[in-house]
Amino acid sequence: MSHIFKYIGVIGAGAMGRGIAQIATQAGSHVKLFDQDPQAGARAVKEISAQWEKLLAKGRMDAVSAQACQARLTLPSTLAELRDCDLVIEAIVERLDVKRTLFAQLESIVSPQTVLATNTSSLSVTAIAAELEHPERLAGYHFFNPVPLMKVVEVIRGLRTSPACCAALTSYAREMGHTPVQAQDTPGFIVNHAGRGYGTEALRIVGEGVADFATIDRILKDQMGFKLGPFELLDLTALDVSHPVMESIYQQYYQEPRYRPSVITAQRLAGGLLGKKTGEGFYRYVDGAAQWPTEAATPVVNEMPPVWLSPRASRRAELLLLLKNLGASIETGASPSMNALTLVAPLGFDITTVAVVERLDPARTVGIDMLIDDAQTKRRVLATNPATRADMRDAAHALFARDGKAVSVIRDSGGFVSQRVVAHIVNIASDMCQQGICSPQDLETAVTLGLGYPQGPLAMGDRLGPTNMLEVLFNMQTVYGDPRYRPSPWLRRRGAIGLSLLQEES
Ligand code: NAI
Repeated sequence: MSHIFKYIGVIGAGAMGRGIAQIATQAGSHVKLFDQDPQAGARAVKEISAQWEKLLAKGRMDAVSAQACQARLTLPSTLAELRDCDLVIEAIVERLDVKRTLFAQLESIVSPQTVLATNTSSLSVTAIAAELEHPERLAGYHFFNPVPLMKVVEVIRGLRTSPACCAALTSYAREMGHTPVQAQDTPGFIVNHAGRGYGTEALRIVGEGVADFATIDRILKDQMGFKLGPFELLDLTALDVSHPVMESIYQQYYQEPRYRPSVITAQRLAGGLLGKKTGEGFYRYVDGAAQWPTEAATPVVNEMPPVWLSPRASRRAELLLLLKNLGASIETGASPSMNALTLVAPLGFDITTVAVVERLDPARTVGIDMLIDDAQTKRRVLATNPATRADMRDAAHALFARDGKAVSVIRDSGGFVSQRVVAHIVNIASDMCQQGICSPQDLETAVTLGLGYPQGPLAMGDRLGPTNMLEVLFNMQTVYGDPRYRPSPWLRRRGAIGLSLLQEES
């Protein structure tokens, strides 16, 4: 039996309300699930019961508990029946006016001590509470779909929410088996804010013609360990959901360039290419499976040119060792010989700029992304510049594929795919810390549980090197002149000491 909330009301029996009602009942509370549409309520109870039967069949729940849960979950026919609830969680339609009306009605029904919570994902908690008699008892309680499997919940403190209200919701989240994180009432809270970096930067890379969707997805999965590429993810979420979220957060932050959406998704949304659910998004789906374009074959190169490596390459010693292991003939002169393949490995700079600055022949210059330790990546990424000769590009491709590792060749841009996307994610996360939206620890927890990233953004930045992240951003800002890439002051300050430190700065 829950010690905190014995009787709770859940309003709205859709995808979210159903999941919340299920875990709250399992936590031992008596749950009244109310929906204005009685059929929706009945359907939800049926589906929740089916979930308990599944758990029973799998041995994850015993028959006594399943029966007790069934008895604790009820379907009131009027809102007034929620009068004895200690907590009411709202998961109805995402409209400020409708939510406000509902909470005003509730205040006339429940006791003044009843805690009120909203599962809104995009509205201001402060605005929802503004007209209440007791705004201090309303907080955001943002769950993720499907609720029983996504074991994180954001507890959002509106401007007038009392600390006691957040504390009770935090403890109750633990009783439900969820991990609570604390967020300030800001657009997107934690997860939907931190998630802005991945898709928007990938869309910019596509928009610049640097690489296609599938190549970007392959690179981010194989180099960075993301479970889904950004375009697979957009297809799964569907553009009718994700494009409006991108627009809304961008507008709510008064057109902050870091969150700028893309015309690509606007156009695809208008055209109905929504994603997996409509059979076509960035990929086509046949029987639910994405159709991946085949990768370019490794070119056959009969005569491998010698290789000269720029002294300014990142991870130079490692790259030299790799070249040796791949059997390359490495030149050691101060400048490349007449027919040498010239390799550069910049962070944030484009290959053309590097060739010009280092006075190299652009026709023979190819870049390789060395942000990530070669041993830790399943794919190597090379970049040409517009002047790179086809024989030099093919030689580099064949050379780096010699040990069987996958190779992608992309076009010139400031920063390679992983550099751009990861630096953007780390920068946004850093700026969230700068703004005090949540603690660095809660940010990491929310992102790993809510977005399924292989690591929290701050740990990711630390693994790749905070100063490398800064270098990528500084150089990209130079290349693009776009304030989108300006490093957050928090990232600049923490550059030298690490991002995911548990202790606070002195
Ligand atoms: P849904 O459309 O599946 O369900 C909403 C339910 O609320 C419907 O059954 C509807 O009949 C009922 N309803 C609408 N107005 C009502 C009212 N005034 N009184 C009583 N019942 C009412 O919606 P879903 O997806 O469950 O979302 C609910 C809330 O949760 C929204 O605020 C949404 O933004 C938020 N949310 C949704 C997530 C998702 O992935 N679907 C994730 C996190 C939050």
